[in-house]
Amino acid sequence: MLREIDQNIWVAEQPLKYLGLDVGTRMTLIRLVTGEIIVISPIQVDNDTINQLNAIGDVSYIIAPNLYHYLFVSSFKAIYPKAQLWVAPGLESKKSELPIDKVISIDENSMFNEVEYLLFDAFKVFDLKGPFLLNECVFFHQKSRTLILTDTAFHFDESFSLTTQLAARLIGGYKKLSPSLLEKFATQEKDKVKQSVQKVLAWDFKRVIMAHGSIIESDAKRKFREGYEWFLGTSLTTAA
Ligand SMILES: [Fe+2]
Repeated sequence: MLREIDQNIWVAEQPLKYLGLDVGTRMTLIRLVTGEIIVISPIQVDNDTINQLNAIGDVSYIIAPNLYHYLFVSSFKAIYPKAQLWVAPGLESKKSELPIDKVISIDENSMFNEVEYLLFDAFKVFDLKGPFLLNECVFFHQKSRTLILTDTAFHFDESFSLTTQLAARLIGGYKKLSPSLLEKFATQEKDKVKQSVQKVLAWDFKRVIMAHGSIIESDAKRKFREGYEWFLGTSLTTAA
């Protein structure tokens, strides 16, 4: 079911396991003044959710925001065949079978008047085969002052299973809006990440929605800055 977060912005969640941990996943929907809806990181939707969606606007854009969040985009596009599937750069070669309409250009700085985005450069994640670029596009909805992240920060708290809480305490991210130690170890080009963080901090956001964790509703910019302190720190020039 969709949950209204603010004017013209909704989320919906579903359970999801990653490496045996309950991390859940969340999609974000933004309605533009035109009535068009942007769906960021779609989940599997049931009929009730589809009915809700149809009642609030026209699904026009489906976005796979990074190289790992594409699992449900094809089924979503099958429900909304007229919507355009836009993907993070690199996904067109990683998953060429996806029904892609557009690869988001890293040179554009705005796709829509009301939603800005940027590529979170050089940030890497560990998957089962090693460290890989995430190539995540992060979004800013101006009217609701909301930053929308997918895998660039987590925020696990007591609403998650005890095992997930324990893992988050061990690798970072428990009750903190931040990447985990894994991403810090995986990422070599920290200066590039720092530049992306600084660009994000130039946006006037008060809320952060992420794919895995509890939404941050207050003081979000300070929390984001603190969560990325390691990338912003003075040791950057000497880091590998
Ligand atoms: Fe994810």
